[in-house]
Amino acid sequence: MTVADRTGSSGAAPSREQGRFDAIVLGAGAAGLMCAARAGQRGRRVLLVDHAPEAGRKILISGGGRCNFTNIHTAPDRYLSANPHFCKSALSRYRPDDFVALVERYGIAWHEKTLGQLFCDGSARQVVAMLLEECARGGVTLRLGQPADTIDHADGRFRVSIGADVVEAPRLVLATGGPSIPKMGATGFAYDVARRFGLKVVQPRPALVPFTLGEEDALFRSLSGVSADVEVRFGKVRFREAALFTHRGLSGPAMLQISSYWDHKGAIHVDFLPGREGDWLVAEKAARPRSSLRRTLAAALPERLAEALAERMATDGELGGITDKALRHAAARLAAWPFRPTGTEGFAKAEVTAGGIATAGLSSRTMEARGVPGLFAIGEAVDVTGWLGGYNFQWAWASGVAAAEAL
Ligand code: FDA
Repeated sequence: MTVADRTGSSGAAPSREQGRFDAIVLGAGAAGLMCAARAGQRGRRVLLVDHAPEAGRKILISGGGRCNFTNIHTAPDRYLSANPHFCKSALSRYRPDDFVALVERYGIAWHEKTLGQLFCDGSARQVVAMLLEECARGGVTLRLGQPADTIDHADGRFRVSIGADVVEAPRLVLATGGPSIPKMGATGFAYDVARRFGLKVVQPRPALVPFTLGEEDALFRSLSGVSADVEVRFGKVRFREAALFTHRGLSGPAMLQISSYWDHKGAIHVDFLPGREGDWLVAEKAARPRSSLRRTLAAALPERLAEALAERMATDGELGGITDKALRHAAARLAAWPFRPTGTEGFAKAEVTAGGIATAGLSSRTMEARGVPGLFAIGEAVDVTGWLGGYNFQWAWASGVAAAEAL
């Protein structure tokens, strides 16, 4: 891939489709499909390009194949960005209800799973089919299996070489996402283009990603497959959801959520029994003095986890033989168990990429680059990253619509 921002001619090209399009959208993922469809339906002639052989690949695998397409609790505070206000405008103008209305127009059955997360009853394929149909209704030209290569910019027009062709339009939308899960065709293409046009990029990093644990926590790695409802904290951020032990470390919704906030240095703290008072073990001792700590924990937690925690705390014997002070200390430890991850499983396993094209260079109303009229960036390519649970698709839809209205 090469990108050029030239002020002169775009050079020789084998063939050219001049003046046919009002806008070229690069990336037929969630944001690009939505943007192209809406712009097409507004009467714009749109070319939508993707190097993958099929559109919406991440939609197809999302939500375990059922696509968690939005979250009814969508709000700006559920997004990470260097500018937490940037996402407000687009999110307020295209809401979860708007996407639900679209899904219902297509007769796609859905349900709320948990925590406001909306999923298809059937298959994520229905969402991709719906978006492709919306593109068809907007007369969008779709070119799949063809990577965008050189991009020239001259005389207010963008010229993009795609395979053997050069296409041009006065508007160009970067919707090629971030580099998470490269084996699915994810790239940092949008960042390269943005930088060449003078836009800044906030250091991209894997987010919603499992943690790896080292030798110090080898005991927990042996719990692979065990899950528990916990509260995990990092700094002031906390999530109460399921955690899953894996053979490499920690995963599950709670861990994926906190990973987006982790600084790659400090410890994360896990409350294994959220909601309990500090002297609950003292109360247990009064009620069941012959019980052991392991048996007491096993009443509330998976057996193997209870065993591993009890082993680590080395508080042996019957509760009746342990001092109240030691029991309060044990309860405090169980409420703030520190894990020091050695790292994460990286972009290969990250559900999203945090960071990306800096919002400072973009209009929050239209997603257009302030310094480059006609250049837009939407979706995951931008430095706006949602929590787990449908928030990232809602950003893709909302930012796609915001740009479409300005194309
Ligand atoms: P997206 O990645 O969807 O699309 C970018 C497109 O650009 C791709 O089609 C790619 O092929 C193309 N492209 C890249 N480089 C190119 C180039 N050089 N030339 C041409 N095309 C190029 N979110 C959520 O809200 N609910 C969920 O249930 C899930 N589940 C989920 C599961 C898994 C396994 C993953 C990996 C991710 C999720 N997500 C999610 C996150 C969600 O998939 C993601 O945030 C959106 O797909 C982002 O949409 P975009 O359109 O910005 O990028």
